Amino acid sequence: MSRAQKFLAVFLAITVLFFGFIVFRVWGAKPPATVKLTPIPQGEYDPAVWGKYYGLEYQTWLKNKEMAPSPTGYGGSVKEQKSVKQTALPHNFKGYPFEKDYTEDRGHPYSLEDLRTSHRIGPTSKGSCITCKTPQIEQFYKEMGWGYTQRPLSELLDRSQHPVSCGNCHNPETMALRVINPAFIEGQARRGIDVTKASREEMRSYVCGQCHAEYYFVPGTFQVVFPWDKGLTPSAMYEYYSANPNNFTQDWQHADSKAPMLKAQHPDFEEWQNGTHGKAGVSCADCHMPYMRQQGRKYTSHWVTSPLKHLNEACSTCHNEGPEWLFERVKTIQDNVWQLQHLAEQKVSRAHTAIKKASETANVNQTELANARELVRKAQWYWDYVAAANSMGFHNSVQELNTLGQAIDFANLAIEAANRAAGTNTL
Ligand code: HEC
Ligand code: HEC
Ligand code: HEC
Ligand code: HEC
Repeated sequence: MSRAQKFLAVFLAITVLFFGFIVFRVWGAKPPATVKLTPIPQGEYDPAVWGKYYGLEYQTWLKNKEMAPSPTGYGGSVKEQKSVKQTALPHNFKGYPFEKDYTEDRGHPYSLEDLRTSHRIGPTSKGSCITCKTPQIEQFYKEMGWGYTQRPLSELLDRSQHPVSCGNCHNPETMALRVINPAFIEGQARRGIDVTKASREEMRSYVCGQCHAEYYFVPGTFQVVFPWDKGLTPSAMYEYYSANPNNFTQDWQHADSKAPMLKAQHPDFEEWQNGTHGKAGVSCADCHMPYMRQQGRKYTSHWVTSPLKHLNEACSTCHNEGPEWLFERVKTIQDNVWQLQHLAEQKVSRAHTAIKKASETANVNQTELANARELVRKAQWYWDYVAAANSMGFHNSVQELNTLGQAIDFANLAIEAANRAAGTNTL
């Protein structure tokens, strides 16, 4: 071999190794774990039956029963009232069941138990609430279409044996990922997205998005609707609600300010999709269901909890900064978001009080009063969008800090308008 040939051979070898490594890193990180497929009949919802064939997935799903605080101190898997830390929260929900009972969420196996024991439900509660609590929603929707939302919740709860589990996310025959919540499927369709054509990568977030999202109930029919027609940001959804879609005007009237209020419901999918990771194509499953290895087998962890409990598997596939750095980043983001979230919560509460006081003064200016009520409705929606979402802002820190900044401003404007209504502010 001549020198040139030798050089070429070495060069080629290095090139092959280098690109081989890149291909391994990019493709090797993501191929599905291989598993022996055993078709399970359609309509089987018992996770223990699925678990006979998919042992590691089932064992890790069972770990969702573990209750522990989150490593950061925010969120966590312990059932405790949010009002312990968010002291103005009961006042902000005055006149609505969230005033009395609003607990931190915990693992999927508790979804039915926590619904049954919630003080927010009663004899008049509708079937709509079952939508995100059991895979048997597939069965109810097949039988009754949207009619299930008009049935008494107690009737559907009596028929529900299995909490959020395998059937919510998998087709039992093929184990392919699937979505079964009709509200998610319709909400996406109205945005021009056909979920039956979704890629595997998209499905790794869609399975979560079908429940971890904002919704409302249509007055009269109680059908569940996702308010996504104008977009998924706090302002786009607020604009959507302002047009009274399907004659929906409010979730409740605030007992003090008498403002027509909206309740935000865990907009995790919305928050994530506009954030750094969502935009970069990092799926919910990438962080919350990382790959694990046991006895040489690669499998997907089904322990869906704080990713910081297994930070190396969840984050270090993409990040090489090290666990301490990553943990400190998450904590710093969350501490900053919490500080503004708490300020916004307190300020909104003061706005409700200012409006109540104004409304009780003689010769109150009705135009300014209506103005103040609209502003506090908006302020609270912006605060609640962040407060009701999980992750204390980590999923989209830039948007959430902006949203909280606006919540504080709208609350201040509401107080000024209330004072003008009462004639006590010349601003
Ligand atoms: C880049 C990684 C990442 C992605 C992607 C991600 N999350 Fe998270 N998620 C986190 C982190 C970090 C936390 C905060 C955990 C903590 O405070 O201990 C969190 C918290 C949560 C929590 C609250 C957990 C608790 O302890 O109460 C929920 C629920 C959640 N995420 C759902 C989702 C959903 C749904 C998606 C997709 C729409 C998603 N996440 C995408 C990293 C991620
Ligand atoms: C919240 C949604 C969700 C639930 C509930 C769920 N899975 Fe999965 N499962 C996933 C995701 C996401 C993957 C990764 C699929 C992919 O990347 O193609 C997965 C993968 C799998 C795989 C493929 C092998 C592997 O480990 O990656 C099996 C088998 C499986 N799950 C079984 C189960 C069983 C059994 C249950 C119930 C005990 C269950 N799953 C519950 C979302 C879910
Ligand atoms: C069928 C609806 C449904 C689906 C699908 C679903 N979730 Fe949940 N999730 C819930 C409910 C309901 C709770 C609260 C249960 C409780 O507190 O009793 C919850 C709780 C959680 C928690 C809190 C657990 C803890 O330890 O505090 C996390 C994290 C979470 N979900 C993430 C996800 C991710 C990620 C996906 C997709 C891979 C997903 N969920 C899919 C309904 C769902
Ligand atoms: C599949 C790849 C992937 C995974 C898994 C992943 N990240 Fe990221 N992360 C990215 C990308 C891409 C960016 C944006 C570009 C960059 O900074 O490299 C990013 C950015 C970040 C940033 C800076 C931007 C911001 O939002 O503050 C932090 C902090 C971060 N990730 C933390 C985490 C943590 C914590 C986890 C695990 C819970 C995690 N990431 C998991 C790919 C990933």
